[in-house]
Order: sequence, then structure tokens, then C-alpha cells
Amino acid sequence: MNLVESAPALREGSGNVRVLRNLLGPAFRGIILQRGKQGSTTTVDVSSPAIFDWNYDRDQPSLAKLYESAKAGQWNATTDLDWSIDVDPLNPEFELLPEDYVPLSDYPMYRRLSNKEKAEHRHAIMSWLLSQFLHGEQGALFAASQVVQAAPWMAAKLYGSTQVVDEGRHVEVFSRYLEEKIHKRYAIDDNLYVIIDQLMGDSRWDMKSLGMQIMIEGLALGAFGTLRQATQEPLLKKLLEYVIGDEARHVKFGVVALREHYAQTAVLSDAERREREDWVFELSLLMRNRFLVHEYYEEYWAHAMSRREWNRLVLDSKLMELFRRTMFRTIIPNVKRIGLLSDRVRPRYAELGLLKYESGQDATTMILTNWLETVTI
Ligand SMILES: [Fe+2]
Ligand SMILES: [Fe+2]
Repeated sequence: MNLVESAPALREGSGNVRVLRNLLGPAFRGIILQRGKQGSTTTVDVSSPAIFDWNYDRDQPSLAKLYESAKAGQWNATTDLDWSIDVDPLNPEFELLPEDYVPLSDYPMYRRLSNKEKAEHRHAIMSWLLSQFLHGEQGALFAASQVVQAAPWMAAKLYGSTQVVDEGRHVEVFSRYLEEKIHKRYAIDDNLYVIIDQLMGDSRWDMKSLGMQIMIEGLALGAFGTLRQATQEPLLKKLLEYVIGDEARHVKFGVVALREHYAQTAVLSDAERREREDWVFELSLLMRNRFLVHEYYEEYWAHAMSRREWNRLVLDSKLMELFRRTMFRTIIPNVKRIGLLSDRVRPRYAELGLLKYESGQDATTMILTNWLETVTI
């Protein structure tokens, strides 16, 4: 069933054999074997080079600047957030998720539910979203650690060490919020597992940075921003505000490091550059079409409608529309900045209606600036 549903995404993709071959193993493990859902741990074999830099030169000023800002921007999840706030998922005064963000808000069977039942559904959807954030954060923690060892420059290693601490803190806040305030956690989405599994296994540091900092963290910025705007629950709002500040820095790191790396003509062959361009496009498709809240659907709606109907509802929902917009507004200009939006791939993005974002403002820098102004540490 899952494979059949994934086929259209693969058909409309880049057609790059190298990219598809690299996705095959992770897709098999994630979608067919559902490795992310078989027990309380999953082991993924990795082989990443560890590059020692005996010169200790730190001659990239933009990375040094980012490192300084990361050290100054550290916060303590235990003391900087007010965990005494009582979160009642059913309280209409501080809605976790407003009703019009629910993909089902126009679905007749959902509309017939009582207000209390509707609040329970909003609670479940929020729990699904935050659970995926949590699982993504664990992936980010590992990917950031791998980038520290595999990146060739000391400046990138030092900056990366702060990202490891940041991601550890994000795992801490999302797991604590889910456990203490939401009391419900979902397993990892199969497609999110596929992306993380592939990132773990790829031994090239730039692919890890590209997949994690440009794509997944671009997605995270979009998702966190959407949710922060939507939720009325004060602790979650504040928590997301802090996490967004960190994520903007992580995305910025990806842009600075990869722009420099890819600008060096000798670094990539034509085939290697094409592979990166096509992989980014493939990930854009996956992220645009494949996060469909299936675990919640299985629990509440599988008896009432087909998966196909459900997918349509979710893809057309306000939540998803807002999420896609904020996500691609961050990702597309960054893909351009690092030089991977070539004339060869532009028509594909145009077909998806994504080129309108290419010359957008630098959302990442804007978030960083606003964040530093509004959050006092
Ligand atoms: Fe994070
Ligand atoms: Fe991050």
C-alpha cells in the first residue's frame, strides 16, 4: 500500500539514477520494513570519515561570526521556559491548534462531533506534529555530530559543536513537552524516516549538510513558524520561539558553508553537481507531498475514508498550505544561494509553482535578527 502510494512521487521526480539508487535502501527500510516503528530502538549502520585538521586555522570570518553568535545565543530549557504553565489540551481559551487548521474542518463526519471530541482530535493532531518534530530533532542531533567529524575545516567543526548542543536541547524540550503536557506520542512518519536514514548512511559531509541544514531545517523553520503562529498555548509558543532562533542559525551555517564549498570549481564534477541538484529536488517533492499525518488517520479515520481521500484533504488543508509556503520561502532562495538552482532544474521547480520564491528576502537572516531583538537571554 505504502509503496503504491509512493510511486507517483518517484515518477514525477528527477529521474536521476544515482539519486534514486541512494534512496532505494532507505525507502525499503522506511516504507516497506517500517524500521522506525519496530521496537524502542533502531540501529542504522553508518560509515563517516573523521577528518582531523592539524592546522587549526579559522580563516572563514562568516563561520567565526556564526560561532560567536551561537555561543552568545545559548539558552537553558530548564530555567528559560516556564514549565509550571498548566497545559490543558481541551481548554478552548488557549487552543493548542485552532479549529480552521484541522484538515477535516469541512468534513461532514468531523463537523458532527461534539466540541469536546473536536478538541480531542486537535490534541491528537498536535501530538502527531510535535512527535515528528521530536524525531526530526534526534536525526538532527546525529547529523550535526557527523558533520563535526566529517567537515574538513576547523571553523565548521567548532560552529558544528554548538549545533550539537542546540539539537540536544531541542530533543529535551520536545520530549519533555510531549511527556508532561500532551501525554501522547506518535511513532516516526515513514517518509521522515526515509530521509533521516539516508542522511545517516551518506558518508559525504556536504550531502549531510545539504540534506539537514538546507532542506530539513528549512522545513523545520517553516513548520515551527506555522505552528507558532497558529497555537494559542503560551508555553508552546515560547518554546517554538526559542527553537526557531537556533534553527535559523543552523540553516545559515548550511548556506555559508556550502556556498563556499560549491563555489570552488574543482570540488564537484558535473555529475556530482547534477546529483546534488536532483537530490534537492527529490527532497523538495518528498517534503511537499509526503507528510500526511497517516498515523493519526490510521487511529481515527481509516474506517471512514480511503487513504487517497485522506491525502487529498490534508494536501488541500490550510495548515498544509501555510506550511508549504513558509517552508519553500526559506528553502528555495537558499538553494539558489548555494548555486544548486541551475537552468537545468529550474523548469521542474517552475512546474511545481516554486520559482516564485527564488528571489525572496533572506528569511533566515530576518528571523535571526528579529529573534535576537525579541529574545533576551
Ligand atoms: Fe533542532
Ligand atoms: Fe537544527
